[in-house]
Formats: sequence, C-alpha cells, structure tokens
Amino acid sequence: MTTSDDLPASLTVPYLVGKAGSYKDEAATAVVEDPKEGRAKNWLWVHDRYRTQATAFLDLKEDPSKQMAAFAKFHKKLESHSEFEDTQLFKFFVDAKIGNQDTLEELQKQHGNIRLVSEITEGLDKMVAGSASDEEKAATQEKLEAYVKDLMAHLDLEEKTITGPWMQLTPEQYKTYRSYLSWMYWFMY
Ligand SMILES: [Fe+2]
Ligand SMILES: [Fe+2]
Repeated sequence: MTTSDDLPASLTVPYLVGKAGSYKDEAATAVVEDPKEGRAKNWLWVHDRYRTQATAFLDLKEDPSKQMAAFAKFHKKLESHSEFEDTQLFKFFVDAKIGNQDTLEELQKQHGNIRLVSEITEGLDKMVAGSASDEEKAATQEKLEAYVKDLMAHLDLEEKTITGPWMQLTPEQYKTYRSYLSWMYWFMY
C-alpha cells in the first residue's frame, strides 16, 4: 500500500484523505487535459527517493536497530512499488507491446528475484540481539551493499526502458494506459 510518505510534496496529499469518490474525477480532468504533464515525473521522483533512502540505510551500520527498521520499512515500500509496476504500469506496456519487451520481461524477473532479503533480515536481527560476530556483521553489511547496488541498476534500467515510451504515448494509448491504474496510482500517474 502506498502511503502519503511516497508522494511528491507537490501533490495535494489531503486529496487522498476523506475525498474518496470525488478526487478521481478531478485528478482525471487535470491529467487528461495535459497528458504529458506528470506522466513519468512522479514515478521518477519516487525512484530518486528510493536512491536516497537506500543510501541512507547503508550509513546506519553503527546502529543496528535503526538500520533494521529503515531497511524493513524501505523494502516493504519497494515491494508495493514493484507490484504496481508488474500489475499496472508494465502490464500496460506488455499488453500494448510498447517498448523493449525483452527488457520489460527482465525487469519483472528482477522484481521477483530481489536478492538477499531474508539473509539481510536475519543478519540484522542477530546484530540487534548483539550476537553477531565481526565476520557476520561485515557479511550483513556486504549483503546490504549488494542489495542497494542491484536496486540502483534496476532503477536505472527501468528509467531507460520506460520513460521514453511513456512520454511518447498517443492520447489514445494514454487513455488505455490510465485504465490499467488502480485508484491510488490513477491519482499519481
Ligand atoms: Fe521496479
Ligand atoms: Fe520502479
């Protein structure tokens, strides 16, 4: 579930609270009248935030409790972002055969194959409990670094693959694309 924490400050977040039913039409009118505005912008903004947050939790190694909390929170958000891409955003590009289909397939595979998460979680658990050896601590930090490195490569590849085709959708394709979005993402993208 996306939270207001994931949204650019420029969006009118109060729309998301208590206006169910009315915001969708209002947001739709705004976006459909100027379809290029905001198409990929919010998604790129979310990616940039992930880049910053991922780098930030690497810096927390001296405080395992904080690092574990930051990692868990981050990974949960990333999972719902990936699910959105698989079931809505990328699904449109696959169904419509727009963009590099092989790369889209590879990106979806990467979503299902995020490495090391359970090992990182176990390692951090041990660090929090104070029972990790120095070697184990170092191994956990290496795995976190690998996770972040994979993530950065994934975000870069997604942006190279999707941003161009997304911005070049015809108004007709854009309408179809919007029909793939659930209400939350309908508002954002
Ligand atoms: Fe992704
Ligand atoms: Fe993404």
